Amino acid sequence: MTIQNIFVIGAGTMGNGIAQVAATSGYTVTICDVFPAALEKAKAGIKKSVTKLQEKGSLTAEQVEAALKIQFQGDYTGMESADLVIEAATENPELKLKIFKEIDEKARPGAILATNTSSISITKIAAATKRPENVIGMHFMNPVPLMKLVEVIRGLATSAEVCAEITDACRKMGKEPWEANDSPGFISNRILCPMINEAIFTLQDGVGTPEAIDNVMKLGMNHPMGPLALADLIGLDVVLFIMEVLQRDLGDDKYRPAPLLRKMVAAGWLGRKSGRGFYKY
Ligand code: CAA
Repeated sequence: MTIQNIFVIGAGTMGNGIAQVAATSGYTVTICDVFPAALEKAKAGIKKSVTKLQEKGSLTAEQVEAALKIQFQGDYTGMESADLVIEAATENPELKLKIFKEIDEKARPGAILATNTSSISITKIAAATKRPENVIGMHFMNPVPLMKLVEVIRGLATSAEVCAEITDACRKMGKEPWEANDSPGFISNRILCPMINEAIFTLQDGVGTPEAIDNVMKLGMNHPMGPLALADLIGLDVVLFIMEVLQRDLGDDKYRPAPLLRKMVAAGWLGRKSGRGFYKY
C-alpha cells in the first residue's frame, strides 16, 4: 500500500504540526477537531509556521501552498478515503479508546491507524479496534516542524509490514524514525520526564533558582533548553500525567511526581499554554 491521504484527529499543537509536515511532504491532508476555535487557531498557526520556514529557505513556495490546502473540518467526513489516520487528541485514555472504536468503524479496511500518544499503551489502544495489527504509535516531538525524531511504537500485535510503511512515511516527512517497544513512557518519556521531575525536586529543595537549574543543563550539558523551560513547553499537566503513568504502570516509586509539580498543576500554572509555569509568558 502507498500512503497518500492522511487524516489527522485533533487540531492542538501536535495535530497541527503533524498535518503541516505531512502536507509539505506531499501528502493530501485533512484535519478535524470538534472545537471550531481549535481549527481556527491551527489554521493561523500553520500559516505562520510555513511562512517563517519559507523565509528561512527551509520550505519552497510549492510546499507552503500545499500546507495552505489542508482541509479543516469538524467531523470524520472523508475518513473512508484515508490510508493513514493519525490521532493527536488530548492525552486522555477513555477519549482515545472511544476515538479508536469510532475510526475503526469509519476507516477503510487496511488503513493504518496511528496514535501520537506520549504515554498510553499502544497495545491497549489497538485492542479497542478489530485491526490491532494495523495500529501503531507515531510519537512526534514538539515543535513538530523543527524536531527530527518520530518514535515509532509497536504494540503487541502491530505487523512488521505496518511498521515498515510507517517508517517510510516518517522518512518521507523528513523525520528520523526510531523504534520502541510498547512500555510505559516508551523510550522518550521514560528518560525525559524523570529528568524534568528531578529538576522540579531540585527547585523544590531550594538547590537553585529556575534560571540556575536551566542554565546548568543548557551550558553544562549542551541541552537546547533547560528542563524547566522544556516542562513549560510540554505542559506541566502532561508531565504530571506521564509521571503518574510511569509510577503506576512500572510499579516503582522512583517515578513519584514532585509535590511542587502537583501544586503548580492544581494552581492552573501549566506552562506556556496558560501563560505561567516556571516562567511567565
Ligand atoms: N514552526 C516554525 N518555526 C518555529 C516553530 C514552528 N513550529 N517553533 C519555533 N520556530 C522558530 C522560532 O520562531 C525561531 O525563529 P527565529 O530564529 O527566526 O527567531 C527558531 O525556530 C528558533 O527558535 P528559538 O531561537 O526560539 O530557539 P532555539 O534555537 O532554541 O530552537 C527549539 C527552538 C527547536 C524548540 C529548541 O529549543 C529545542 O530543540 N528545544 C527542545 C525541544 C524538545 O525537547 N522537544 C521535545 C519535547 S518532548 C515532546 O514533544 C514529546 C512528549 O511526549 C512530551
